[in-house]
Amino acid sequence: MRRIIVQGSSRNNGNTNKIVQILQKYLECDLIDLSECDIRQYDYENRNKNDDFLTTIKKIVEYDLIIFATPVYWYSMSGTLKTFFDRITDCLKIDKETGRKLRGKNMAAISCGSDSHENEGFFIPFEKSAEYLGMNYFGHIHTWIEEKEPSDSTLDLIKDFSKNLSKCK
Ligand SMILES: Cc1cc2nc3c(=O)[nH]c(=O)nc-3n(C[C@H](O)[C@H](O)[C@H](O)COP(=O)(O)O)c2cc1C
Repeated sequence: MRRIIVQGSSRNNGNTNKIVQILQKYLECDLIDLSECDIRQYDYENRNKNDDFLTTIKKIVEYDLIIFATPVYWYSMSGTLKTFFDRITDCLKIDKETGRKLRGKNMAAISCGSDSHENEGFFIPFEKSAEYLGMNYFGHIHTWIEEKEPSDSTLDLIKDFSKNLSKCK
């Protein structure tokens, strides 16, 4: 089982990364940090086809479990991650072979906010996108960091989630 975390924060060593690092302590996962990739907004004319999107998605589709990790920005996933999802459209139109490789793969998601409250519907775009792409949605957790470090309940959540993810076949 090959696993990869796709980190969608606007900073590479912020709170989302703290959560990602804890998950990586429990579960062997590679990491792609989207903030280090040059991935432009979706374009109907594909004028951005030479940016980093295709090389990035081609690496990701080789994994069996893809875990999206995003901060909560204005009650939603980050713009960085949303742009990445928008660009998956390229795999349905111009690089269908890569898009097809997502079928049957597993998706999971982790959010990181400053508030313990999970906004209703936050994970619907993940669940629906997995369904549309023919992927198996393996679940999600909402984590939060109020001060500098995650609370014990967040740590427990990540530990339990990693146990569940390790059962993903
Ligand atoms: C632009 C922006 C919008 C935010 N909106 C929310 C929000 O709607 N709900 C929330 O709980 N926290 C919100 N926060 C706080 C972040 O979710 C929180 O600090 C998170 O842990 C930051 O992760 P990062 O360091 O990876 O960016 C927001 C932060 C920023 C910068």
